[in-house]
Amino acid sequence: MKKLTLTAAAVAAVAALALAGCSADRGGQAGDESGSAGFAADATIGIALPDKTSENWVLAGGLFEDGLREAGFTGDVQYAPASNTVAEQQNQISAMVTNGAKVIVIGAKDGKQLGTQLQQAADAGVKIIAYDRLIENTENVDYYVAFDNFEVGKLQGQALLDGLAERSGHEAPWNIELFSGSPDDANSAVFFNGAMEVLQPKIDDGTLVVVSGQTDIAQTATQGWEAENAQSRMDSLLAANYADKDVDGVLSPNDNLARAIITSAKQAGKDIAKVTVTGQDSEVESVKSIMAGEQYSTINKDTSLLVEQTIKMIQQLQQGEEAEVNDTEQYDNGVKVVPAFLLAPVIVTKANAAEAYANNPNLLDIVNAAG
Ligand code: BGC
Repeated sequence: MKKLTLTAAAVAAVAALALAGCSADRGGQAGDESGSAGFAADATIGIALPDKTSENWVLAGGLFEDGLREAGFTGDVQYAPASNTVAEQQNQISAMVTNGAKVIVIGAKDGKQLGTQLQQAADAGVKIIAYDRLIENTENVDYYVAFDNFEVGKLQGQALLDGLAERSGHEAPWNIELFSGSPDDANSAVFFNGAMEVLQPKIDDGTLVVVSGQTDIAQTATQGWEAENAQSRMDSLLAANYADKDVDGVLSPNDNLARAIITSAKQAGKDIAKVTVTGQDSEVESVKSIMAGEQYSTINKDTSLLVEQTIKMIQQLQQGEEAEVNDTEQYDNGVKVVPAFLLAPVIVTKANAAEAYANNPNLLDIVNAAG
């Protein structure tokens, strides 16, 4: 962890703790000999995660449990259940405020529906960090920590172009279809807009043909990020447009949906080795699919790095400092530009998988096993 210098407030807090007869060194973090200016070193930190529709959310829960414990905090990690998810997440966040959490980290199920709970948090002096997904239409979100999602979209768009040239077996024009994520997730539009920055000029100049004509984000959306919704839309697109044509590529915003799209294309008798399907998240099954020559690409957004960065921010707040950010322009939530710490995503195809997963033994095993 970054060594933090003593602030006047930290000195005052030590004095206050000494007066109260409290131990100032709970938590035992480097740089924390002084005790806490922001809040107690063993304070409760709430982690509110959405449903488990992607592996990254499942991984994040365990990493937060371990990381917060190691940092000396008391972690309160909650997932919103699969049904009634928005209301349950609202209740969980309210309960975290009531139970005295000092920071609440939120992977929002619906980033537009947390206004009431975040007002409650602000009134209680609780800091809010939006994790992976931006929280919209409220001033009560203090920080955002995520992989650069617009860059994720651009990398997906570029991977689609690269894959088309590599494996379609013919020159442009190429027939493609577009998918986006759930409309209640702020990331969905960011991924899609990033990809379209790369793809739109190629649609305009005729290199790419969206045979269905469905290029609007509302038409391409996948409600709830549910694989079955992507699969049934792909079934309909193929039946209506590709009975006598090849589909050369599909922009898929994540791995879970990519595998559903691939299943649909296979069932319709398409030669998947020639179809370029993008993805995101480096899910185990998708890495296997990439190595088997089916899915074309994914994105490595290493969850352990994102959790580590989030915990660093919490430690800075605990010390009474501002959390470190590296972007103060991009993430306007409709009310304010939320100061953000963005990490760099990495595109992964079969060609660079060994290098991309060099630090991830599980995924590296899959790559090596595929030879
Ligand atoms: C995350 C993706 C994930 C998707 C579905 C997005 O907000 O950034 O990594 O695949 O949600 O869970």
